[in-house]
Parts: sequence; structure tokens; C-alpha cells
Amino acid sequence: MRERVQQIISQALQELDATRTLNDLEAIRVKYLGRKGLITLLLRGLGELPPERRPEAGRLINDARASFEAKLQSRGEELAAVERERVLAREVIDITMPGRRPVIGSMHPVTIIYNELERIFSRLGFEVVTGPEIELDYYNFEALNVPKYHPARDIQDTFYVSEDVVLRTHTSPMQVRTMERRKPPIRIVVPGRVYRSDASDASHSPMFHQLEGLAVDEDVTFADLKGTLEIFARDLFGPETEVRFRPSYFPFTEPSAEVDISCIICGGKGCRVCKNTGWLEILGSGMVHPNVLRNVGYDPGKVSGFAFGMGVDRIAMLRFGIDDMRLLFENDMRFLKQF
Ligand code: DAH
Repeated sequence: MRERVQQIISQALQELDATRTLNDLEAIRVKYLGRKGLITLLLRGLGELPPERRPEAGRLINDARASFEAKLQSRGEELAAVERERVLAREVIDITMPGRRPVIGSMHPVTIIYNELERIFSRLGFEVVTGPEIELDYYNFEALNVPKYHPARDIQDTFYVSEDVVLRTHTSPMQVRTMERRKPPIRIVVPGRVYRSDASDASHSPMFHQLEGLAVDEDVTFADLKGTLEIFARDLFGPETEVRFRPSYFPFTEPSAEVDISCIICGGKGCRVCKNTGWLEILGSGMVHPNVLRNVGYDPGKVSGFAFGMGVDRIAMLRFGIDDMRLLFENDMRFLKQF
């Protein structure tokens, strides 16, 4: 009996010494102390011994079990410590490594100009309103006093969705939509996309951007238009900027004017950008035509207004020295990141 116990316990202690993992350790525990473990079976066998031999054998087996358990526990702690070291070594965090920079977008040049325009006109008391890009012929042409035979109505120039629906060719229809809904005084600017059936080249795109302006009240005069556009031009292009009004024609204004600013590249001396004229054309404007006022139910004898419309892409190109309009719409990140 004694030999058998000694043989089992020395074998068990040897196995405990040899284990390398907590899993193996658990397997050894089961092998000796599990329900059918070798030490467990020894204890169970006690009952079969003659009564006078039981106390001594019991003591032997219990001692063996105690030393097995003690060793099991100390090996368990050793292996757990080794395991912890291994995990710590594997999960070490190098706090000196550089962080990951978030990719930051940049404002599109057209958006930058729109934001500036909205700031300038908000300060002058204009409200920003927007409207549909798919527009009724009525608002795009008819209500704006554009006659049936006007060249802009040709399908060469306008994208027709159906006989009386178009992609708006300018932001001017929002003049009419706004006046229909409200009574004067009105002061609005209208940013938005517009469409024309043009091939893309350095200065044309079938989709581009405009900003429309409209002010209607009692006693609004051409002097108000001039003053407003002068303040606008000097704010946007710098205090030295000169503004020039040239007589022109638009169906929805009378009188009409095209507005030039002194060239922002050469200051008016003449250069390639202003084609040696010293002036850059930036917008169309005029006093709202009485027919337009009548079309929205206003009395041209009581109220008057001025309106203007400008191409925002062209202004962005002038301002940032961009020489090809297609760059604005190609979404080349190398270009867009520069703003
Ligand atoms: N709608 C015109 C265009 O697209 C620009 C324009 C001219 C707008 C005169 C106006 C204006 O409001 O009064 O060419």
C-alpha cells in the first residue's frame, strides 16, 4: 500500500513540475483528484482494507493528497504569472507612436464664394431663399416677360423636361415665386444651380451656379441698385474696386445694365484676364420690369424694385485665379485640396 501511494504521488508531483500551461495543469488535477482520479480511487479503496490498517493507510493517502494539492496550487500560481507576463508583452502599447490623422476635407471654391456672398448680402438686409432646379416654363420665362420668340427659349439653349417644364436656365424664377407669396418690402438673394445646353469648355459648363438678388419696396430706385452693388463689389473684391454700369437689355428689367468691376488682376491697367480693357463683367441687373410686377399682382405705380444676377463660378475663377471652369466640376482632389 505504502509503495503504491508513494509511486502515485511521486508520479503526480513530477507531472505537475513538467506542465507548461494552465490547461495541462487542469488535466493533471482531474487525472488524480477527479471523480475517477488515481488519488480519489485510493481513498475509496480504504473501505476494502481490514479495519486495523485503515487509519495508517488513510493518513498516508491524505498526506499524499495534501502535498499534491499544495503543489497544484503553487504551480497554478506560477503558470498564471507566466501567462500574465506573456499577455502583457503581447499587448504592450507604444504610446510614442504617432497618431492617425483624421482626413479633413476642404471647402469647394464655389462654396467659399457663396458663403462670402451670403455674408455680404445678409449684412445689407437680404434674406437667402432657394427654389427648384426643375422649373415650370412659366416661372423660368413667361412670368419674367421673356417673349415666346426669345432665343433663350430655343432647345439649343434650354434643357426641356417636357413642353412646359425646364431645367431652370437662371435663378431669376425665384424672383417671381417669392413675390407671388409675399408682399413688399422684399429683399432676397437666391443661390443655386442653373442649367444650359452648352458643351463644356474652359468657360462653359452645362451646369453652373448663380446668385440672384431682388429688392422691392416703395420708392426703390436705380440709385439703390448702384449703391448696393458698389458696397457688394468693394466688400468682395477689395475697397479699391471701381464699378461701372453699361446699358444693356434683359426682358425682365427696364432699364437694364451690365455691371463691370475694375480688373482685380491689373487694377484697370489692362492685362490678359481683362483682355486689355481694364474691366471685368460680373453681373446683369436692372429695375424690375412693370410687366413682371403685374404678373405677381403688384401695382407698378406703387412699388418698384431692382434685381441682379451673377455667375458664381466665374467669380470664384477670378478670385482664385482658376483658368478652366471644368476644374470646378471634375472633383480632382489635388485641385480641391488647395482651397
Ligand atoms: N438671369 C440673367 C442671366 O441668367 C441674369 C440677370 C440679369 C438677373 C439681370 C437679373 C437681372 O435679376 O436683373 O443671364
